[in-house]
Amino acid sequence: MSCYYKETKMLYGGDYNPEQWGREVWEEDMRLMAQAHINIVTLNVFSWASLQPDEDTYDFARLDEIMQLVRANGMKVCLATSTGAHPAWMAKRHPDILRTEKDGRKRKFGGRHNSCPNSPTYRKYAPRLAQKLAEHYRDYDNIVAWHVSNEYGGACYCDECQKAFRVWLKKKYGTIEEVNRSYNTAFWGHTFYDWDEIVLPDLQSEHFMDEVTGMERTMFQGISLDYMRFNSDSILDCFRLEYDAIKKFTPDLPVTTNLMTAYKGLDYQKWAKSMDFVSWDNYPSAADSPDQIAFYHDLMRGLDGQKPFVLMEQAPSVTNWQQFAKLKRPGEMRLMSYQAVAHGADAIQFFQIRRSIGACEKYHSAVIDHVGTADTRVFREVTKLGEELEKIGGLFLDGKTPAKTAILFDWDNWWAVEYSSGPSVRLKYLDAVLDYYKAAYALNVPVDIISTDHSLEPYQVVIAPLLYMVKRGYEEKLKDYVRQGGNFVTSYFSGIVDEHDLVDCGGYPGRLRELLGVWVEESDALPFGEQNAITYSGTRYPADLMCDLMHLEGAQALANYEEDFYAGTPAVTVNKYGLGKAYYVGTHSDEMFYQTWMRELFAQTGISPIQHTPAGVEAAVRENAGGRYLFLLNHTAEEKTVVLEESYKDLLNGRTYAKQEEIVLEARGVYLLGGCKVQGIK
Ligand code: GLA
Ligand code: ZN
Repeated sequence: MSCYYKETKMLYGGDYNPEQWGREVWEEDMRLMAQAHINIVTLNVFSWASLQPDEDTYDFARLDEIMQLVRANGMKVCLATSTGAHPAWMAKRHPDILRTEKDGRKRKFGGRHNSCPNSPTYRKYAPRLAQKLAEHYRDYDNIVAWHVSNEYGGACYCDECQKAFRVWLKKKYGTIEEVNRSYNTAFWGHTFYDWDEIVLPDLQSEHFMDEVTGMERTMFQGISLDYMRFNSDSILDCFRLEYDAIKKFTPDLPVTTNLMTAYKGLDYQKWAKSMDFVSWDNYPSAADSPDQIAFYHDLMRGLDGQKPFVLMEQAPSVTNWQQFAKLKRPGEMRLMSYQAVAHGADAIQFFQIRRSIGACEKYHSAVIDHVGTADTRVFREVTKLGEELEKIGGLFLDGKTPAKTAILFDWDNWWAVEYSSGPSVRLKYLDAVLDYYKAAYALNVPVDIISTDHSLEPYQVVIAPLLYMVKRGYEEKLKDYVRQGGNFVTSYFSGIVDEHDLVDCGGYPGRLRELLGVWVEESDALPFGEQNAITYSGTRYPADLMCDLMHLEGAQALANYEEDFYAGTPAVTVNKYGLGKAYYVGTHSDEMFYQTWMRELFAQTGISPIQHTPAGVEAAVRENAGGRYLFLLNHTAEEKTVVLEESYKDLLNGRTYAKQEEIVLEARGVYLLGGCKVQGIK
């Protein structure tokens, strides 16, 4: 079964905006979509103004026509609630709906994703519209899911938000003394005596723009972290209001909203708990490498404990809002679609079906281009993939991606690391995580991305790069895991603070000191261009960014620094703890180091690659009750040869391949292989 309601095949389609066109075009669109094997449309994403012309009038006549037409053409619908952009009249009559920027500027009407999450007007009218839609369309049996709003994000610093922040704080801390303790307000004498002395941390209060780096910085990390949490919760409340309104009339239909991968502003791991399934929009820039995109998929799959997701949007070809609208090369869209499936997607959808003629997305690719015919390269490629997915049907649905390695990803830690005043402006959480993820990816070792809530038990190896913030109690979870035989890895600048960004005194890495068997006395943050070096297994690798200077307290050194006054002291260590081991990688190195070191770690912990492949060819597995499926994805523009390590059957053409047989992947080519027990596809 797919994430979508009762679907037993993989759906294929995308955002469709017929409200921008006349009826004659709709009929033609239906014909073209059928030709491209499209079977789902996401409707009604940005129609609030036409659905509700004033406070009390709702007019669904045109949407009715569209809904009927789509149903008559046998298509499924992911129905959006339209609350991603508010109507102009609402902004004029109820200005509380407009957001305030962090410099205090009140916005006017314009743009989208533009409503203040604590605005009484937004909180009244958005769920009301969602409820009216659910009531009105509840009998349409072709609706497979609800799509609330669109790409939630941003932040607001208005007075309503400030009031709500104080309420949020009161609920969290109970007393003002506890707020003072948590923020260490004794520093600079910022002690609060009353709740209404607390103002939002913005550019008018605790924040400032760093002129050297161009980064926004804070003088009090505690309150800034809480604001991030509060803003994420405020926007989540808006989602939940619509969710509850929808469920009153269509309790069985799943409800989602389209996420934006590693979007820093919202704690998606918390959000996923309120969503019936995760869906997300994949718009990599030309600079994003395939391993990075794989990471995004895994992050999204991991939000709610490794459940399949829907790829809600991707561009059939160009993404015009990026710096350069570079064409997706022939085969690239197909390759990226199968990469999504390999990592857990149960549906593939595009933005958009028909290219609009005005405003800022008129040069964004679409299934149907401005020329209006099926006679385009992009349309043909969309059609070919549609044919294949139709053949594949439900084969991969609900497929797990079996992984024995987990990487911890934590939004609170992300915010904390990057709000930190020192030790280095070069510390970027995503980069630190990607160092490890990319090495595992290059070795074809599948990885689950987990949150601090998830169990560590299923994994042989758990890696928590740059675990600066250790939430109280998490150290016990890690210790239990290692005690019972787990392998834990962490890196420089870890174990420093608790969830309030208050330092754990008594020696770094704080509550992880005993587990790791090291004491980090100092940390050397190297500026751009400066390097130390480490020697590991007889080979010298660079050490840069951060060099932790540590003392062994039971751990053993695996690599030492080579230069400077700390030459000969440990850089990478391992500590036996209970039945398991805890590793500390006290510096940052290069790709070769991470790959070499992790290859050995995997070998020692019994984790083997899915399949050996040449560089640039990804191997990934999905597994469900029907079988085990191997995806081979050639991300290069050249032919590549793979020697199969098991016998397989080609899921698209039925050919069988023997163990040790060589197969050739064309440029950007894909092989979908099943074990021979797989019956193949009809
Ligand atoms: C986002 C939005 C869509 C559209 C696309 C264009 O993902 O959700 O409405 O703007 O970007 O790439
Ligand atoms: Zn606000």
